[in-house]
Amino acid sequence: MKPEECVEQVIAIAVEAGMAIKDIYLEGSFDKEIKADNTPVTSADLAAHQIITAALTQLTPDIPVLSEEDADIPLSERVDWPRYWLVDPLDGTGEFIAGSGDFSVIIALVEHNRPIMGIVYVPMTEVIYYAIAGLGAYKRSNKGEQRIASRQLTLDDSHSLRLAVSRRQDPQSVLKLLNQPKHCELVVLGGAALKSCLVAEGRADCYVRIGPTGEWDTGAAQIIVEEAGGQIMDLELQPLSYNERESLENPNFIVVGSTHLPWDELLVSE
Ligand code: IPD
Ligand code: CA
Ligand code: CA
Ligand code: CA
Repeated sequence: MKPEECVEQVIAIAVEAGMAIKDIYLEGSFDKEIKADNTPVTSADLAAHQIITAALTQLTPDIPVLSEEDADIPLSERVDWPRYWLVDPLDGTGEFIAGSGDFSVIIALVEHNRPIMGIVYVPMTEVIYYAIAGLGAYKRSNKGEQRIASRQLTLDDSHSLRLAVSRRQDPQSVLKLLNQPKHCELVVLGGAALKSCLVAEGRADCYVRIGPTGEWDTGAAQIIVEEAGGQIMDLELQPLSYNERESLENPNFIVVGSTHLPWDELLVSE
């Protein structure tokens, strides 16, 4: 099945999971546990995980699913997968718990270790970002659907970058990595996927994530940002890897809207 032949069904799965998350969020009553990696997981994460894995398995029984909430599949078992669904059932668990509303559902399809389709659904605004390799990136909301493009900057613009940061992220930790932009506007939003989508649609120029990250955090954003004209890479400006790490962890990464800027000069080497 080509991605364009199943994209609407996969969007419907993301929406169904997002509605379940939203119901739990609005009800305000959920269970919370701390996982072995010292990060929180709630009953909303697990409900969305169940909905998505069951529905994807029914839709494409031959394509395995790798979800953040069921990620203990050793690389030796995964390495020969030609295709797999890469899922973050609830990106922004911290935001969900804090009550900011900035969280999303992420589903990506990875083929030969590269994301070829990505969907990010935002339950509280009912906005869908999606992209298919070669067919563009789109934003769908109650105002309709439009193709999105990142803002292509010139060298002059690099002195006044708009940075996407989380409410809970210290902007200084990001600013110190950038070579003295003279003016820096902060665009504040939660969750790795939502900040990446901000860059994809040109509302922010750059998002730098410091700290361990699962490949499910960037899978859908990778193709959405690329199809919008931008790029996601590690801080050495190398491509992120998919299905190639035992730890399932990507290193720090940077999401940039404009591929024309000399990011090697703009990033302070550590
Ligand atoms: C996290 C969120 C958070 C980002 C972390 C992610 P999770 O994902 O996106 O904003 O800073 O890197 O791991 O655990 O809420 O799915
Ligand atoms: Ca998590
Ligand atoms: Ca995540
Ligand atoms: Ca998650």
